[in-house]
Amino acid sequence: MKTRFGVLLCLLFASLSLSAATLKPGHYAVASAQPYATQAGMQVMAEGGNAFDAAVAVSAALSVVEPYSSGLGGGGFWLLHDAKTGQNVMVDGREYAPAAATASMYQDKQGNVIPGASLNGPLSAGIPGEVAALAYISRHYGKLSFAQDLAPAIKLARDGFPLDRMFHAMLKSREQKLKQWPAAWKVFYPDGQVPATGYVLKQPDLASTLELIARHGPRAFYTGKLAREMVKAVRANGGIWSLEDLRDYQVKLRAPITGEYHGMRIVTVSPPSSGGIVMMEALNILSGYDLAKDSDLMRKHLIIEAMRFAYRDRAEYLGDPDFVKMPLARLLSPYYAAGLRAAILPEHATPSSNLAPVTAEAPESQHTTSIAVMDKDGNLVGGTFTVNFRFGSGFMPPHTGVILNDEMDDFVSKPGVPNGFGLVGNSANAIAPHKRPLSSMMPTFLETRNGLAILGTPGGSRIISMVMLGTLDYFNGGDAESIVSLPRYHMQYLPDKVFYEPGAFSAGEITGLEKMGYSLQQVHPYGNMQSISWNYQTGKVFAAADPRDVGSAAVK
Ligand code: DON
Repeated sequence: MKTRFGVLLCLLFASLSLSAATLKPGHYAVASAQPYATQAGMQVMAEGGNAFDAAVAVSAALSVVEPYSSGLGGGGFWLLHDAKTGQNVMVDGREYAPAAATASMYQDKQGNVIPGASLNGPLSAGIPGEVAALAYISRHYGKLSFAQDLAPAIKLARDGFPLDRMFHAMLKSREQKLKQWPAAWKVFYPDGQVPATGYVLKQPDLASTLELIARHGPRAFYTGKLAREMVKAVRANGGIWSLEDLRDYQVKLRAPITGEYHGMRIVTVSPPSSGGIVMMEALNILSGYDLAKDSDLMRKHLIIEAMRFAYRDRAEYLGDPDFVKMPLARLLSPYYAAGLRAAILPEHATPSSNLAPVTAEAPESQHTTSIAVMDKDGNLVGGTFTVNFRFGSGFMPPHTGVILNDEMDDFVSKPGVPNGFGLVGNSANAIAPHKRPLSSMMPTFLETRNGLAILGTPGGSRIISMVMLGTLDYFNGGDAESIVSLPRYHMQYLPDKVFYEPGAFSAGEITGLEKMGYSLQQVHPYGNMQSISWNYQTGKVFAAADPRDVGSAAVK
């Protein structure tokens, strides 16, 4: 099925239904990375909108109040649970590569990757999917009009809002990058310098762009004057977008990955995100153990090894499902997991060099955003969307107010050469016209007999390990609050290192893990997880924003 500005229906969704279909929470809740965005979602539900309207309102508001993380110039994944039908759907609004893109476009004549080429300026920008995804969700799932869903975002852009410490810090860290692009510079550095915390930032061009989309729908973004302006500016500054690239962009509906961990039901995203496959592979490995019976040290050892093996397969096999054949059934098979489990040594770390010879640097913590939304009928939305690194490519086409992404860096610029997150890969994730870069973003639903949870986070390659630790916490009786607060650790196969937050390991565990052969590196707190949990037994709904950042959560 193919309709312009509509959707490409790739697969029939698995008709998995959470038992929430028969229960109703009677409350509504939002968790997001920014208080104004959370408010936008709560407002829309107070006005009679459902979780899908609220998710659109929150996502659109984030494009205004957190443009360093996500926006109309980016893309992402929205996981929807429709309480009425029991169906779970993944809305894939991931960017795709322009038609003129080639596998070696970020290499010089000698075949070396040009540092920064896939990260800066319009050449690093994929064709955005966010507007198409939001319009699709509003139109097909919402109760209110698209204009009503966008209203809070328009107001925030038009009237402005006071900058918080995080926005201020982001502007400080990206001053040199944004200085190169006059339109972005003018919006975000109004007096030619980083505005102070509390400064009321107005974005009139972005307000006009949002109003145009609210009035005329997504075609106002993908065709017409705005599209012409974006393409002209992109091409004048070294980019390769065409009007046809924008016109032909399609949201794709995909079947989520569904699985189980010791009876807990998991619904998460499928490729072009690697998140669902990698987490399920790791959890399948762990399913063969009774982790509760192990010592803390042994449990962490096994979890780290499961991450190592699963992240290895990410690098080897995964890419855009419309372009590459992937052995998904094998990767998700319990027999395959059993084989990997047999390779895990109980007393020792397995060197990643036993698996492949490439090394990579650790990623810095960057930005992206996640939301969790639930309405009183039990409709659920988890979303993770991004412009990739802080302020994406840094490039803003004049008069649009829209920062373009640098999502092209999520492709493999050259086999074996790590990307901005230290991730390696091969031809499965090579650049090709209209192909979607492999992602780690993974909004996820969990359900046990006692209740359900929504969770998701930014963090590049670390997203998957964070969601996995949150999943295990929920399995062990945690709730939204503990899921987002939990100290984190991470292993992604290459580099062969375990990164951990302060407090993730006790002194004894550090010594124990080092004795087992692990190389450990303590890092600053990372991630910005948002979660909602609903306990069927007590009827309680919790919403929580990651305490590491400025987000907020509300329940009514
Ligand atoms: O799709 C991905 O996996 C990345 N573009 C996400 C970037 C990210 O999470 C940056 N955040 N901290």
